[in-house]
Amino acid sequence: MESMNEQAAMESDSAIVRASWSGSDRSEGREFAGWTNFAATPYISFTHGERFATNHANAIAAEQYGMFEQVDAIPAGGIIAKPTFSINASGEALWETLFLMEKAEAGMSPDTNDWIYTAIMPDGSLMGRTLGENSDGMYFCAACHMGASDTDDLLFMEPEYRVQN
Ligand code: HEC
Repeated sequence: MESMNEQAAMESDSAIVRASWSGSDRSEGREFAGWTNFAATPYISFTHGERFATNHANAIAAEQYGMFEQVDAIPAGGIIAKPTFSINASGEALWETLFLMEKAEAGMSPDTNDWIYTAIMPDGSLMGRTLGENSDGMYFCAACHMGASDTDDLLFMEPEYRVQN
């Protein structure tokens, strides 16, 4: 039996297109959409390819991430996901890179302040992951984020885009 969504999509002559990252070997590519979204609206992230972005935190990270500039530290196991998309000149929406930051156990990755940076490409393949595939190539993520030492290397979207409580 068709779900309500599928029915509605067919009636409006539109199609549900699954995020390409859902085919990734990494489970975050499927799971992040169920996490807490802290962006009230997609906004253009100039530091991540000028793509539209939102910011989602898993259950371990959400309470601390939601404190924004007052954050103390994200606990180990906390993950922030930043899915991105673009709209091309023909008006087509395209899935772009999924950016992830995961807090590892203390001492796991001293060079990156124990943050594991991951990027999943639009086709679901892995661009790289700190301490894993293409780890050196991912260091530029840390190099920029580590400028935010007062906020556990988090840089946060501008306040006007945040979900207001
Ligand atoms: C030149 C600086 C810069 C680089 C390089 C960079 N980021 Fe970011 N990142 C930011 C800024 C600024 C924000 C917050 C504003 C925004 O979303 O654009 C952010 C936000 C994030 C967030 C949401 C958590 C937060 O800080 O609020 C994630 C996840 C993230 N970046 C992952 C990555 C990954 C993975 C890479 C490398 C592939 C990367 N970033 C490279 C500057 C950078």
